[in-house]
Amino acid sequence: MICLTLSGNTLESCLEEIEANRSYIDSAELRLDYLTPEEQKKAASFPSMAGLPVILTLRRKEDGGKCTLSERERRALLLSALDGDYAYVDIEEDVKKNDVEDKAREKGVKIIRSFHDFSGIPDDIYSRLYRLAERGDIAKAAVTPHTTQDLLTLFRIAEELKDVPKIIIGMGDWGIPIRILYKKAGSLLTFACSGEAVAPGQVSAKDLKLLYRADKVNDRTGIYGIIGNPVLHTSSPSIHNPGFQSINYNAIYLPFLVDNVRIFFALAEYLKMRGFSVTVPFKDAVLMYLGNITREVKQIGACNTVVRMPGMWKGMNTDYYGFLQPILPELESGKIKSALVIGAGGASQAVVWALRNRGVKVTILNRTLTKAEKLAKLNICEYDTLDNAHLYEGKVDLVVQTTSVGLFPNFDTSPVPDFHFTGKEIAYDIIYKPKMTKFLQDAEKAGCTLHFGEEMLLEQGKLQFEAFTGYHYPKDLHPSL
Ligand code: ATR
Repeated sequence: MICLTLSGNTLESCLEEIEANRSYIDSAELRLDYLTPEEQKKAASFPSMAGLPVILTLRRKEDGGKCTLSERERRALLLSALDGDYAYVDIEEDVKKNDVEDKAREKGVKIIRSFHDFSGIPDDIYSRLYRLAERGDIAKAAVTPHTTQDLLTLFRIAEELKDVPKIIIGMGDWGIPIRILYKKAGSLLTFACSGEAVAPGQVSAKDLKLLYRADKVNDRTGIYGIIGNPVLHTSSPSIHNPGFQSINYNAIYLPFLVDNVRIFFALAEYLKMRGFSVTVPFKDAVLMYLGNITREVKQIGACNTVVRMPGMWKGMNTDYYGFLQPILPELESGKIKSALVIGAGGASQAVVWALRNRGVKVTILNRTLTKAEKLAKLNICEYDTLDNAHLYEGKVDLVVQTTSVGLFPNFDTSPVPDFHFTGKEIAYDIIYKPKMTKFLQDAEKAGCTLHFGEEMLLEQGKLQFEAFTGYHYPKDLHPSL
């Protein structure tokens, strides 16, 4: 079940949240502790108005809620709310058997026995969950993973407790995969927020249902993803998931925040992942775990696509083709014979090699000259410092921007603010957020032809899709990034 955590302080606003999300959710959790005292008193009427199974929760402050009532007052409030037809009631692990539990059992309301850990994963999580489920209740742990290892631990615990009715929630950014793959973890439900996710670790009901189709995951679902750090704002799930859906391919693609590539490979084995994309800063770090790499990966020294092969992982680089694809017509018609590549970092390597392979004369400009020199020597091209950019005005056919300058949220910066475009150049920025960078704005003002990072992102994604599934990316699908 996808369960919407209601955040309103009146029953009416909670109902509005349900209405706005009704087609994405199977149940809702009424947080009695979020309601005003007057509204709390009316809570018994809520389930019949909601029209779907509702969990009743009155969370104490020490468990992350807002309730500061005494235990006696809290019990009284829960008891009166239980006059309504709630499907579940959440009772914390340490609460002794009392009249709330008795009333719930009498009425056939299922009990969720929960504990919370906001600092980490308790060592005894396994035995606690096991014990909580002993009386036929649903055991719930909301814990806080901080590393890739923690996430792997949570999936392992979930697997060990396969036959126990449970809900395992990974709070914060590190827990997102287990929230999305809740069915893989054998959790009864996953909690979702309304609208756009506003806090780290939250996933909206709409994304869970429409983007990830989290409720459709089964034993045969192929798991794919993207690793990076940071990674949560990536647009790649919006390329791959609609692609899978469009060709009826039973698969899911989700972001994994990673701190340790070696452990991620263990997690990938554990989840039987079939492939994943790699973004900053792991494009080099994955290399040592690959049993097979393509010529491009060898030459560029960076891998952005990993696919499972029998007994090994294979590394590919679709950035290379993704970059070339949008400018192929201009390359083939001979419009691009010389290029200025700004930046000499990881992203620049694929760009420089792609252009050199097409016979383009390349000059690399970089803030740190030694890095430009190293890349230039590897690829037989010229190099210079950023400060000398003006020397190349009017002398090149293509200017490519590969640095992180201008990236969201620093919209108003360009690595070459004083470079004057003549209007004849083709300007290409590989940044895709924002689409129109300061660099491209300057080029547009001069009348240049523009190419956007979005084009490269999409092209490299389509090639990954092919590597992942063996199928072409659906032609008539235009994902919004
Ligand atoms: P990536 O793998 O994304 O390319 P990177 O390897 O850190 O990331 O490279 C970032 C590129 O952006 C480099 O060319 C870097 O220049 P330096 O080699 O001098 O570090 C460039 N860059 C980053 N911040 C910059 C800034 N404020 N001004 C100019 N160039 C910058």
